[in-house]
Amino acid sequence: METLVILISGRGSNMQALLEAGLPINRVVVISNDPDAEGLKIAASLGALVACIDHRNFQSREAFDAALADEIDRHQPDLIALAGFMRILTDGFVLRYQGRLLNIHPSLLPAYPGLQTHRRALQDGVKIHGCTVHFVTAAVDHGPIVIQAAVPVMPDDTPQILASRVLQAEHRIYPQAVRWFFQERLKLSGQMVTVSRAVVHDSVIYSPGLQD
Ligand code: GAR
Repeated sequence: METLVILISGRGSNMQALLEAGLPINRVVVISNDPDAEGLKIAASLGALVACIDHRNFQSREAFDAALADEIDRHQPDLIALAGFMRILTDGFVLRYQGRLLNIHPSLLPAYPGLQTHRRALQDGVKIHGCTVHFVTAAVDHGPIVIQAAVPVMPDDTPQILASRVLQAEHRIYPQAVRWFFQERLKLSGQMVTVSRAVVHDSVIYSPGLQD
């Protein structure tokens, strides 16, 4: 039975994109660290099993991660997808799920790891921004990259406007990466991920566009 566990902390729009993508899986379990996460209601309404491990009930990161791992292991998932899960995970947790733990991050990694990615990109004046799906390793936001999508940065962008443009791209690439995983098309070797039978377009993205 193909099982996906999705970890969320908030509104869960990436989780929703995964649930609505018609992925080749039998069972989805959505777990939040926050009982008030909006995404939990959406997940239940879309037929996923839901659970909550409230991080505020634990004295340490290790204790929280151990409880989270117990809940995850009950479902024996093939893959765990972090989707706006805003807790830093301990090295032990990451190692336990090595090779079957994916994350989506709102920047073109390795640029802008961490928080406030859109604000920082605008402050730096970058012209192209985007999002990344990667395997999670102990080095936060530095794991092997599966897929990235680039979007242009427009002159009048605010962090919110840029975030919503990037989010649309997130909703396309995360289901794609998870589908590849379940189709066994991802080969992980060190820091490198190869995707079998993937189409790579030989095109260049210019932003701003070129004109003389
Ligand atoms: C998404 O933009 C995701 O990339 C980001 O949080 C947002 C969650 O939105 N994740 C991170 O910043 C992780 N470092 P969502 O709850 O609507 O999917």
